[in-house]
Amino acid sequence: MSEVIWGMVTSHVPSIGAAMDHGKTQDPYWKPLFDGYQPAREWMAEHRPDVAIVIYNDHANGVDLDVVPAFAIGTADRYPVADEGWGPRPVPEVVGDPDLSQHLIEHLIDDGFDMTLFQELDVDHGLTVPLSIYCPDPGEAWPCRVVPLLVNVIQYPQPTAARCYALGRAIGRALASYQPDVKVAIFGTGGMSHQLAGARAGFVNPKFDAMFLEAIQTDPERLAALSREELIRQAGSEGIELIMWLVMRGAMNDEIRRIHETYHVPASNTAAALALFDNRGD
Ligand code: DHB
Ligand code: FE
Repeated sequence: MSEVIWGMVTSHVPSIGAAMDHGKTQDPYWKPLFDGYQPAREWMAEHRPDVAIVIYNDHANGVDLDVVPAFAIGTADRYPVADEGWGPRPVPEVVGDPDLSQHLIEHLIDDGFDMTLFQELDVDHGLTVPLSIYCPDPGEAWPCRVVPLLVNVIQYPQPTAARCYALGRAIGRALASYQPDVKVAIFGTGGMSHQLAGARAGFVNPKFDAMFLEAIQTDPERLAALSREELIRQAGSEGIELIMWLVMRGAMNDEIRRIHETYHVPASNTAAALALFDNRGD
């Protein structure tokens, strides 16, 4: 039987990946951020999953804006690293898990979530930066297979926080009936507060982030009740990425144990956070 062993939520700021790719993690600007990751990285290195379901958004890099699915899932056996304008990041190609993708698709569609399928997909910083945060030195290959699950957060109307939480619940139910004996980790990516353009460019909201970082464990229903407008008002226009954390939370048990958290302002324009949860409660 498959088992969800842990969930991690993390920001996916592209320059975090660039700092790693260019050997800048010990520079004064970046060191506090990467120091904050260390305890989580050590725990995750001791608890390796066979497969990670990475809830993320493409930023019009791998998927152009002609077609904008609310929710989509990758079905491929490999996902090339996207070229976002400076050439692909020097990290391994992402290896998929088509069997698990197929199982999720069938169960999610039967459960009322009409997923779009990506049979081919280049993965951008939304997915590769969280993988680098999980595993800084992958060498030739990432240490687990990956199922990319995409959420539209970049074009109005994005799915609601409540719908994302419900999708997570449905993923949890689907995994409960997945027979192969695999250990699964769930990544919820993006956030926390940030706004990249417009009159409020540079906006961050540590007070809101602190509430969200706590409630993602203890009161996800409160977060699922936030409207799109409220999320953007409180977390900035790109802070709405936080709805993806609710997909992770929905796929986990009601009681989960916080292994580590870290919060750092700023990483580029973003209030960056990581929180790691064991799926077994206290
Ligand atoms: C930044 C943050 C993001 O989430 C993103 O997708 C791109 C850039 C930033 O803070 O620079
Ligand atoms: Fe982003």
